[in-house]
Amino acid sequence: MKAPVRVAVTGAAGQISYSLLFRIASGEMLGKDQPVILQLLEITPALEALKGVAMELEDCAFPLLAGIVQSDDANVAFKDADYALLVGARPRGPGMERKDLLEANAAIFSAQGKALNDVASRDVKVLVVGNPANTNSLIAQRNAPDLDPRNFTAMTRLDHNRALSQLANKTESSVNDITHLTIWGNHSSTQYPDLHQAKVAGESAIEKVDQEWYESDFIPTVQQRGAAIIKARGASSAASAANAAIDHMRDWALGTAEGDWTSMGVYSDGSYGIQEGLIYSFPCTCKNGDWEIVQGVDINDFSRKKMTATEQELAEERDAVAHLLP
Ligand code: NAI
Repeated sequence: MKAPVRVAVTGAAGQISYSLLFRIASGEMLGKDQPVILQLLEITPALEALKGVAMELEDCAFPLLAGIVQSDDANVAFKDADYALLVGARPRGPGMERKDLLEANAAIFSAQGKALNDVASRDVKVLVVGNPANTNSLIAQRNAPDLDPRNFTAMTRLDHNRALSQLANKTESSVNDITHLTIWGNHSSTQYPDLHQAKVAGESAIEKVDQEWYESDFIPTVQQRGAAIIKARGASSAASAANAAIDHMRDWALGTAEGDWTSMGVYSDGSYGIQEGLIYSFPCTCKNGDWEIVQGVDINDFSRKKMTATEQELAEERDAVAHLLP
């Protein structure tokens, strides 16, 4: 058996974590031969609820669960962490403007970035789930100057998975037949789900669907899916978000499928003309615990406009919190 790795999860008493933690502990994220120590962070008022979650984790008697740490101190929860899933965030309250939301989260994610910088493993892999995920990831990254910016990512895998299912339904195929789909940009309603490279059983997806469906049905459905879930369920996506977090981390740690790619919000190096330093979702492959932006994807005028619109939104979010960035 391998030595245990340390997996920090914030917002550990919340909805997403209630699905996520059990799947990490059962080995679905890092493999059935990898023991884990869960290091759980919550705000002080939620520590009692967190205790209940920890009791349930114990009651599963997971063979791979080598320990549980519970804390309201980021320096404890992130100590030597090899993986950090930042799920906890400040939700939008009544009367809160977008700017207020950005600022409230900037406070949380700057403190967590500093703590990661101070105490986490130098190779820590950070996934930000809490919204606004891309900008929260950017804030954490900017507050962790001693860590490689490539260690910070944001989750667009749920959007990617939503797009896979929508396309599979439309083309009466299986998600297993679909490859090379991309979510570009922000995890928000400006994201651009791109089918131009996508394949269904090896054949061009865009040629199998009509442009009208692509533009007026597929793209808005994927962009608005989060809101549609809230309307139907009365609560935001939780199990599917946890599933996407598992997929994102598993691929990053263990590699993407040969001959395919996935979508990850990662530190832009200027690829495809996207401003350097933004956390922007690109097509990525992963190997040996590292990710790479896929190069050479053809970008037509339609795609370029949509990629730029979502880039502009991310630049505006960054600028709105610029006074809080080091
Ligand atoms: P939730 O409200 O059920 O749980 C959030 C938990 O975070 C709460 O227990 C809260 O006490 C905790 N928390 C708040 N501030 C914290 C801090 N500073 N440190 C540690 N813990 C803190 O919310 P849920 O449903 O679990 O969602 C979590 C976040 O994930 C939300 O921001 C949501 O918008 C986002 N989300 C992102 C998705 C994506 O695709 N990127 C998809 C779905 C949700």
